[in-house]
Amino acid sequence: MRVISGRAFFRGRLEPLSIAIDETGRIAAIKKALRGDEQMDHGDALILPGCVDLHVHMRDPGLRRKEDFPSGTRSAAMGGVTTVADMPNTVPAVTTATALDAKAAELRGRAAVDYALYAAPQSPEAVPRLANAIALKVYMAESTGNLQVTVQRMSEILRVAEAQRKLVVVHAEEPGKFTKQKAQDLRGHDAVRPKVAEETAVASLARILGEAKVHVAHVTCLEALNAVPAGATCEVTPHHLFLDSSQPIGAQGKVNPPLRSPADRDMLWDAFRNGRIDAVASDHAPHTLDEKGAPFEEAPAGLPGVATAFPLLMRRIRAGELELPRLVAAMAARPAQILGIAKGTIEVGRDADLVVVDPRNIEAVTAKRVRYKCGWTPFEGMEACFPQAVYLRGEAVIEDGEPVSEGQGRLIPGSS
Ligand code: NCD
Ligand code: ZN
Ligand code: ZN
Repeated sequence: MRVISGRAFFRGRLEPLSIAIDETGRIAAIKKALRGDEQMDHGDALILPGCVDLHVHMRDPGLRRKEDFPSGTRSAAMGGVTTVADMPNTVPAVTTATALDAKAAELRGRAAVDYALYAAPQSPEAVPRLANAIALKVYMAESTGNLQVTVQRMSEILRVAEAQRKLVVVHAEEPGKFTKQKAQDLRGHDAVRPKVAEETAVASLARILGEAKVHVAHVTCLEALNAVPAGATCEVTPHHLFLDSSQPIGAQGKVNPPLRSPADRDMLWDAFRNGRIDAVASDHAPHTLDEKGAPFEEAPAGLPGVATAFPLLMRRIRAGELELPRLVAAMAARPAQILGIAKGTIEVGRDADLVVVDPRNIEAVTAKRVRYKCGWTPFEGMEACFPQAVYLRGEAVIEDGEPVSEGQGRLIPGSS
């Protein structure tokens, strides 16, 4: 039996513990001291549950010039993420069972971490056929991929999803509130797709929600957060927490919904810190430097972030600006719960997906460090705390901060 020890986050607090892992990769025992034939002693480093990123775009198949499954999941592992849920705006778009099966077949054996797949039904009739998807994605406005549906359509989709107890993740922006200006910079993009468009779309969910399980993606401001209906969950991205429209990064900061003002960002951070936001999800959405180098107005929206979400937040723990239980809840326990998967907690019987991190180990984020295929990060130069080791079902995928195994990730199928 393999035994991993360190200061583990167990039942809400840190304590020196040994974690024994059985041959299926599950946690078999958690004790003060355990003996195994293989001991990995991480001393006083922290052992946290592997992060679950419920919103990534790995661009595979069809857009592999931007990212692919091996590269994107390797970066995920480097950032402490052991499960990703991949969005359906790949090519062909995952709108049918055929496309979903084809995508699953295409990805088999190529992921460094465990993964689940979304589908984007374009009609209510499609919903029952998409049972193998972990959840459904509905776009209320155009974003990369052109998968948007009307509010009427969406409410029909919600009724079927409700009957099937299927989670629906929503990109909430109301296109009727977009302005016709041409954006030249990040402030302009914020004006073209303003906060009120987001707030209106989120508020419209209350009318059509019923008993459906709905999760609001990438909430950017307090107005939208306050509009999230009771019973729905929501996520925030690291870019809306750590970047704003004053950043001099041009189209590298262009994303939907847009980066907001510094004041909006401050309020969003406080709301997150105070536990008002369920999850952090990266919305890892890489585009090539070439594409981002186009005139601002034509540059595609989306930015990479799967490798930096956890390290940027971990750095805030050491700085005293965030509590560890909040980070673990938002990056592991809660997203696993929202997706309905048995991950995200260090507990006997759970998969031994573990992140080993030393809060004193502070480095600057660089494009080289995160190894995205697109070759850039909007967080360049920011301080972060990367994991030293990462285990997927008990097997090391990262050692000394570097990838050591690939292709071991498994598909987590949907349940209804
Ligand atoms: C995403 C992409 O590029 O796939 N872009 C973005 O600006 N967030 C799509 C999305 O999540 O809206
Ligand atoms: Zn989106
Ligand atoms: Zn997205």
